[in-house]
Amino acid sequence: MKISEAKAKELAAQALKARENSYCPYSDFAVGAALLCADGSVYTGCNIETAAFNGCCAERTAIFTAAAQGKREFTAIAVAGAGRGSEPDFFCTPCGVCRQVMREFCRPDFDIILTDGKDIKAVTLDGLLPMAFGPDSLE
Ligand code: THU
Repeated sequence: MKISEAKAKELAAQALKARENSYCPYSDFAVGAALLCADGSVYTGCNIETAAFNGCCAERTAIFTAAAQGKREFTAIAVAGAGRGSEPDFFCTPCGVCRQVMREFCRPDFDIILTDGKDIKAVTLDGLLPMAFGPDSLE
């Protein structure tokens, strides 16, 4: 993990807090994410669902929010997920689509901080998406 343990715990707490804004009437599964940009700013996101089942995960909401503000360099993201109204009790991991979006903007050693609400577990983007197809594959 490139970021400090203290920073990772702070990000995890922000991801847990971001779950509160989740709009998940279809899955009843609330997810929060907190994205640390290279400039030190943090953007949070939650999952937002639609009746047509084409909503957006918490991680992409955070990344797209930051990207829409011109941010392009990211250091770490924390993720927390659990049934709506329940506290997390497992380490929720990013879905495949979110991993690919991370691959677009982040280096292989991008820190992904998972939290079960109690502890944190740090993994890297390369660990979750090995041999990835990315921007460099098109060069
Ligand atoms: N979800 C996320 O937001 N992030 C994850 O890491 C896993 C899944 C959302 C998508 C959907 O709104 C709900 O959780 C159930 O899959």
